[in-house]
Amino acid sequence: MTILVTGGAGYIGSHTVLALLERGEDVVVVDNLSNASAESLRRVAALTGKAATFCQGDIRDIACLNALFSQHPITRVIHFAGLKAVGESTRKPLEYYQNNVAGTLVLLEAMRQADVRQLIFSSSATVYGADSPVPYRETMPTGGTSSPYGSSKFMVEQILQDFARANAHFAIIALRYFNPVGAHPSGRIGEDPLGIPNNLLPYIAQVAVGKREKLGVFGADFPTRDGTGVRDYIHVMDVAAGHLAAMDHLPQISAFEAYNLGAGVGYTVLEMVNAFEQASGVKIPYQILPRRDGDLAAFWADVHRAKQQLGWQVTRDIHQMMQDLWRWQKNNPHGYAVGE
Ligand code: NAD
Ligand code: UD1
Repeated sequence: MTILVTGGAGYIGSHTVLALLERGEDVVVVDNLSNASAESLRRVAALTGKAATFCQGDIRDIACLNALFSQHPITRVIHFAGLKAVGESTRKPLEYYQNNVAGTLVLLEAMRQADVRQLIFSSSATVYGADSPVPYRETMPTGGTSSPYGSSKFMVEQILQDFARANAHFAIIALRYFNPVGAHPSGRIGEDPLGIPNNLLPYIAQVAVGKREKLGVFGADFPTRDGTGVRDYIHVMDVAAGHLAAMDHLPQISAFEAYNLGAGVGYTVLEMVNAFEQASGVKIPYQILPRRDGDLAAFWADVHRAKQQLGWQVTRDIHQMMQDLWRWQKNNPHGYAVGE
């Protein structure tokens, strides 16, 4: 039994591939390397002593997917592939809908043709939209998303539900990630953003190694403990473990189910800066800037459903997130660009 991992060379994908290989699973990765380096998978192989089969290809290319399904005994798919930068999605909506929505349609078609019936999809807390009360629960309505990226995740969830309803022998889980951060504790694999990081922790880490002068804090006038935004940060290895738990649960799912993957607690931007400084011993200069368009004051996950049904919960706290992030960034100041 082989697992196909789309987008498996990327940040969350590579950590999940590592967890799968450590558990003894056979893994095939398809990734077009639009936002990743094959070096991540070489390091995963060095860490685990096992290699995933890698195919550089695009999920929008049905011939590529058909070939993978016919060459390997694939029974399950974990689908990470897609574009993920919120700001960019407002400038390039077609690219986002093509990769995220049309790409998923091609993948579903190839799965149907190959009679592969089990799928885990990377969704996001963004599907709860701007008006949901916190904590976010899976029973809440979704939609009201504020970017093409968010809308693409919402649309794919709708498509998956409709598809699963029409094909009851399919089992599909959408995992709604909150804010994945950190790196594998080896410091060998981690997040390697292209250009200026959009997200908080990669930005802080690049300030710490001197690649950026100071952090801009987007707003200090939110109705939160210290005025800065509150988010539910989750260690990427806990996210990876969530995929293994979801995979084990697939046989008990009929049709479609969604689960939050979060820690269930929120931290402010300044609390995260402070935690990083403690873990690294490096001072992070920052400046308060105006709010970023579209940012919400505070959100975090209700994590009961994942705990009860998947038997999963986070096991790593923010200090581990920071220590592991710092080890990765310190050892790889240029990400994967400079191989070791
Ligand atoms: P990432 O960019 O590191 O990984 C995505 C991978 O998909 C990359 O390796 C990229 O090269 C590949 N890819 C993109 N389009 C492709 C295509 N058409 N065909 C084949 N490969 C393609 O991002 P990540 O942080 O690892 O995120 C993985 C998934 O989780 C994404 O779907 C993302 O939207 C979702 N997600 C991420 C976060 C987060 O904070 N990182 C939060 C919520 C949801
Ligand atoms: C962002 C996306 C969200 C996506 C998530 C995970 C936006 C509006 N939302 O969430 O859709 O699912 O990433 O990839 O982009 N911050 C700063 N300075 C920075 C960067 C961030 O102060 O340089 C603050 C933000 O205002 C926010 C917090 O840090 O309060 C976290 O930001 P970020 O890491 O970008 O994640 P989200 O905005 O939660």
